[in-house]
Amino acid sequence: MSTTNPTHDLACTALSKSFGSVQAVDNVSFDIPPGSFFSILGPSGCGKTTLMRMIAGFENPDHGDIQIKGRSVIRIPPNKRNVKMVFQHLALFPMMNVYDNIAYGLRCVGASRKEIDQKIADVLERVALPDVAKREIHQLSGGQKQRIAIARCMVLNPDVLLLDEPLGALDLKLREAMKIELKLLQHQFNTTFVYITHDQSEALVMSDNVAVMNEGRFEQIGTPQALYHHPASAFVAGFVGDSNRWTGKVIDAGNNNVRLSCDAGFDAQSHTTDTITLSRGDNATVYVRPEHIQVDTQVNADNNNQTDATNALTGHIDSLLFNGANSRVLVRDKAGELIEADVTLTGSSHDPKPGDLVRLSWRSEQALCF
Ligand SMILES: Nc1ncnc2c1ncn2[C@@H]1O[C@H](COP(=O)(O)OP(=O)(O)O)[C@@H](O)[C@H]1O
Ligand SMILES: [Mg+2]
Repeated sequence: MSTTNPTHDLACTALSKSFGSVQAVDNVSFDIPPGSFFSILGPSGCGKTTLMRMIAGFENPDHGDIQIKGRSVIRIPPNKRNVKMVFQHLALFPMMNVYDNIAYGLRCVGASRKEIDQKIADVLERVALPDVAKREIHQLSGGQKQRIAIARCMVLNPDVLLLDEPLGALDLKLREAMKIELKLLQHQFNTTFVYITHDQSEALVMSDNVAVMNEGRFEQIGTPQALYHHPASAFVAGFVGDSNRWTGKVIDAGNNNVRLSCDAGFDAQSHTTDTITLSRGDNATVYVRPEHIQVDTQVNADNNNQTDATNALTGHIDSLLFNGANSRVLVRDKAGELIEADVTLTGSSHDPKPGDLVRLSWRSEQALCF
């Protein structure tokens, strides 16, 4: 397990870790090409922090190997691995000013005063805060603290920077701004960032590649676009992006196509992925994204109450969610379930209104079934 593979900044092979009867990380393998932004996305408790702590060296895996720049680090203590970690609460020293916070790690490795001055000036320039060296930590805004926490790590020139839900403590507006800023910082340093989060929008916006984690395992690794458009499992389809979903029974299946009789009273025709094999009589769920649902307000006797309609149902508009170009309607179907669909709301009298009867439909290619 000590082959060198310099094409990867970080490579994990069959990593596992359990705590008593809890399998926190279960046979996880992945590798990350140099200088990329890689996110691990999954719900709370799925094993993200445990995986990160193993990479950093704070936790020993039960099985598996971790290689950094092609070298196994399994028996190497945290301070000897060239990996740095930014925690959720940033862990800046509150009693020290910015300069001393950043200088701390450099002093630990015996850098000279001149070298420290030079490196701090350089790293503060790179995080676009050239004038804050003398500031106390409490004099910084939340976003500035974030940048200093990253500067403090990056000044040590790590092979990999690990970030464990670093935006978790910030308010929503700042998180939105920091998403973009973190991506720009990663570009600026051209160092591999491994970012863990339970927030799918953070992972999609920032990452070159995302691993979706569930109950200790990686369900899928891919680009944000691949995960969004081609989810490999029901979990990924449900966790990445918004989806409407309907359960039902398979009435016909074959050639990556499946026909479902949905419990909500309509038939759904959709694609399945190669890895999913469904057959007649199986229970299954169909997923359709809000942007793929067409909302038709011209409902008449021809298309209302059709009992044999495929990929179509009618309902009444419950509410309008205006959000500029991302506006939606919530439609309540006959079974009482709410369906989300994207719409354009212009503010004119032609806009749909709460209470309107509408017909919702979509194309088979835009539905996925698991
Ligand atoms: N030191 C520990 N001792 C016992 N159980 C732990 C320990 N650390 C984590 N766990 C358990 O392992 C699972 C994964 O936890 P964690 O890695 O923190 O998940 P996440 O970061 O995705 O929220 C959880 O069930 C958690 O309770
Ligand atoms: Mg965690």
